[in-house]
Amino acid sequence: MTPEQHLAEVLASYDDSPNDRLAEITRSLVRHLHSFVTEVGLTREEWFRGIEELKRAGQLCTDERQEFVLLSDTLGVSMLVEMINHGDAGGTEPTVFGPFHLEGAPRKEMGESIIVDVMDTDQNLVVTGSVLDLDGNPIEGAELDVWETASNGFYDVQDENQSEMNMRGIFTTGADGRYEIHAVRPIDYTIPDDGPGGDLLFNNGRHNWRPAHFHFVVSAPGYRSVITHLFDSESNYIDSDAVFGVRDSLVVDMASGTCDFDFVLAPEAAAQP
Ligand code: BEZ
Ligand code: FE
Repeated sequence: MTPEQHLAEVLASYDDSPNDRLAEITRSLVRHLHSFVTEVGLTREEWFRGIEELKRAGQLCTDERQEFVLLSDTLGVSMLVEMINHGDAGGTEPTVFGPFHLEGAPRKEMGESIIVDVMDTDQNLVVTGSVLDLDGNPIEGAELDVWETASNGFYDVQDENQSEMNMRGIFTTGADGRYEIHAVRPIDYTIPDDGPGGDLLFNNGRHNWRPAHFHFVVSAPGYRSVITHLFDSESNYIDSDAVFGVRDSLVVDMASGTCDFDFVLAPEAAAQP
């Protein structure tokens, strides 16, 4: 039997699947996996090493740690999924979600601070702007769910010395669509490197730095939500983000202690993938 005949036999085993979409995804995965093994002439030792790394990734996962997201991010898959899901809907460009979002961040009044734990290293920053529709009209009732690391480079969930929900908040726009968030200037930080994700980076000569950024999920009834970032233009890693998340349209000047950015949401019905 040739590898091609073997592939055909495996693909045919999904012909009677009761779930068309699952069968489509599985067949495609099988085709690409077989093609990958053939293309690189994978040895038995390499295949079992890969399986061991996936086992180690699984063993590292907890409610606070998601090693598979790290692998997806550093292989560029997370960004690709965001890109094809956003399609050509227009509006603010999306980027990676990352593993450090928390549900239930505190709701904040406009102009309130997200700083719970003040640090000596803090450089205060006021982030302002509007949430607009594609025609430039303000959107009332838009929610901005924002999170960033503290100025020591760690998220609250990574640092037992930080209060829960430090550097997180949800802001809701009024009729003028404006928002104002008091925060700290983000800093470059490293993503976790003590698992298979870090090994794959370092053994390939890559680094694990992310350029300084805020995370945002911006949503409003009747509009497509956008998962995005604002990046500091003075970051040292703006051209080499470990997770490929930087988009020119999301890079802003934060050096003066203020920064201004308008988020633009496309209507719900716009271009589905
Ligand atoms: C983050 O920006 O929070 C992040 C993104 C990808 C991997 C790790 C962290
Ligand atoms: Fe981040």
